[in-house]
Amino acid sequence: MNKKYILSFETSCDDTSVAVVDTDYVVLSNLISSQKEHEKYGGIVPELASRIHIKNIMLLTKKAMIEAGVSYKEISAIAVSINPGLIGSLLVGVSYAKSLSYALDIPLIAINHLLGHVFANKITHRELEPPFLSLIVSGGHTELVKFEADYSFETVGKTRDDAAGEAFDKTAKLLNLGYPGGPAIQREAQNGDPNFYQFPLCMNQKDNFDFSFSGLKTAIMNYINSQTKENIEKHKSDIAASVQSAIVGSLFKKTISYAKKYKINKIVVSGGVSANAFLRLKFEEFSKISHIKVFFPKLEFCMDNAAMIGAAAIPKFIEKDFSDLSLNAFSKKGIRRL
Ligand code: KG4
Ligand code: ZN
Repeated sequence: MNKKYILSFETSCDDTSVAVVDTDYVVLSNLISSQKEHEKYGGIVPELASRIHIKNIMLLTKKAMIEAGVSYKEISAIAVSINPGLIGSLLVGVSYAKSLSYALDIPLIAINHLLGHVFANKITHRELEPPFLSLIVSGGHTELVKFEADYSFETVGKTRDDAAGEAFDKTAKLLNLGYPGGPAIQREAQNGDPNFYQFPLCMNQKDNFDFSFSGLKTAIMNYINSQTKENIEKHKSDIAASVQSAIVGSLFKKTISYAKKYKINKIVVSGGVSANAFLRLKFEEFSKISHIKVFFPKLEFCMDNAAMIGAAAIPKFIEKDFSDLSLNAFSKKGIRRL
């Protein structure tokens, strides 16, 4: 059978990304242009993000096609993330994907960004099939999702306030470690003592699979305010390690207790926070001593990227589940089948 190629776009937040994948989950190109312009604001400025996407997307597409060595005539479908995310940013990707689909007469496939994160695992572990439990941990979402099939899933737990990535980002801001906070906290925590201070584990009750990180944020703020500047500087790495341990601890505990309770033997971790080395280690150590297998995407597919959007589009492509040009972006949170 001839190879089929999908050209995919991801512009939901501050990364412009364009990829070409084939329908066997092989990534031919996956280019990401990260917007450094937000760093000086300590967070993403939505209007700025969409303007930079507009500036980047054409050239990045050209480069992704050249790197993949594929012509537009060989592209069988165009996939794009249409939700959730910053609406202005999403609209850039959706409008560009729609215009290419129209001009080149190629079918269009709409993808939920969080489903894309889960499918990043499929690129890394081609053999992975549902049923499994997925912990999706990103900058805006923390969800525990039970998958029965590629597009058949149920959210069984989610954060009631902040997301895990947001907890990393806010703590990094409080400790003046810069943005994005997750990698900065991980770096700082490397030489710290995770038992230096016991920050609370969120929603610690048995049989409750929701998360909450706003209490932790308050506890961190209270702790920092109760200490001298010198003490904070002296113990920055210990504080970072203790916070990382609290965030990872609650993600880990909830996920494995759900998997054990409902006898699910595969856990699939995804989203930007799945790049965290401490989280990976904790799950990997657990999987060595249990019958539950744990899957992580390769580091390059943890953060926002278009290859995961192309991968998530493959079952839809096979089912010929295409969208027409009335397709629109929307920002409503959560994983969903579109
Ligand atoms: O999935 P993602 O790239 O974007 C969203 O969809 O939100 O996730 C970004 C989040 C940020 O909050 C960032 O701080 C976090 O992922 N992150 C990490 C690490 N790398 C990225 N958190 C902890 N440890 C990391 N190594
Ligand atoms: Zn994401």
